[in-house]
Amino acid sequence: MPPLIQTKKLCKVYKETGEVLEILRGVDFNMEKGSITVLTGASGSGKSTFLNLVGALDKPTSGDVVFNGENISGFSRRTLNRFHRRHLGFIFQFHHLLAEFSAFENIIMPARIDRRNLADSKNRADELLEVVGLADRKNHLPRELSGGERQRVALARALMNKPDLVIADEPSGNLDEKNAEILKSQILELSRHFGQSFLIATHDMQLAEIATQRYLVAHGNISNL
Ligand SMILES: Nc1ncnc2c1ncn2[C@@H]1O[C@H](COP(=O)(O)OP(=O)(O)O)[C@@H](O)[C@H]1O
Ligand SMILES: [Mg+2]
Repeated sequence: MPPLIQTKKLCKVYKETGEVLEILRGVDFNMEKGSITVLTGASGSGKSTFLNLVGALDKPTSGDVVFNGENISGFSRRTLNRFHRRHLGFIFQFHHLLAEFSAFENIIMPARIDRRNLADSKNRADELLEVVGLADRKNHLPRELSGGERQRVALARALMNKPDLVIADEPSGNLDEKNAEILKSQILELSRHFGQSFLIATHDMQLAEIATQRYLVAHGNISNL
């Protein structure tokens, strides 16, 4: 099976601050479809930088990102927007939910933006509320939810458009142990039952346990653990 993601000689250099920071130095990396791939590494090693390049939130200094056989490095802004909507889901350390919208409305948002069929989308959003155990919180606003519940809404939202890949940057970074454990088991469940692929950067060794593939980010490179 071809890899879901392949990076070729991926380089990222930051020059904005006057000094030259070589963060990624020619990373050749493959990620398998259906895997839970976990990146660990010291703070500042370049995990977020790498995820942002793979998720096309940022452009590499040089090198390529190939997603499902397609080189996304040359995509126009418009093609990239569509690519994000259709193929990727994101979760960050902070939930980034829209404060004025309910859990249900936040979850369904990616499908509304992609102008998907409303009835199907509503069914899918309800199904995802069940999956993350929040069916009884459907109409709650983010401020009426706990931190753990908000992050589970963010997980459901990331899955709304059935993405090929969910990219998660320190998804449990803001959670207590109990809620981190719930998030971890839901990610595992989604991987096992739906074959959902996850690319996760984390400091959380408990979360790293569910990895099917583990890598260390250090010295500008990514190596197998
Ligand atoms: N926009 C930027 N401009 C300059 N330096 C940056 C920028 N973004 C990140 N860095 C630097 O790149 C390094 C890697 O950052 P990051 O990818 O966020 O690391 P990690 O996620 O592993 O903690 C850090 O030293 C950080 O300060
Ligand atoms: Mg980071």
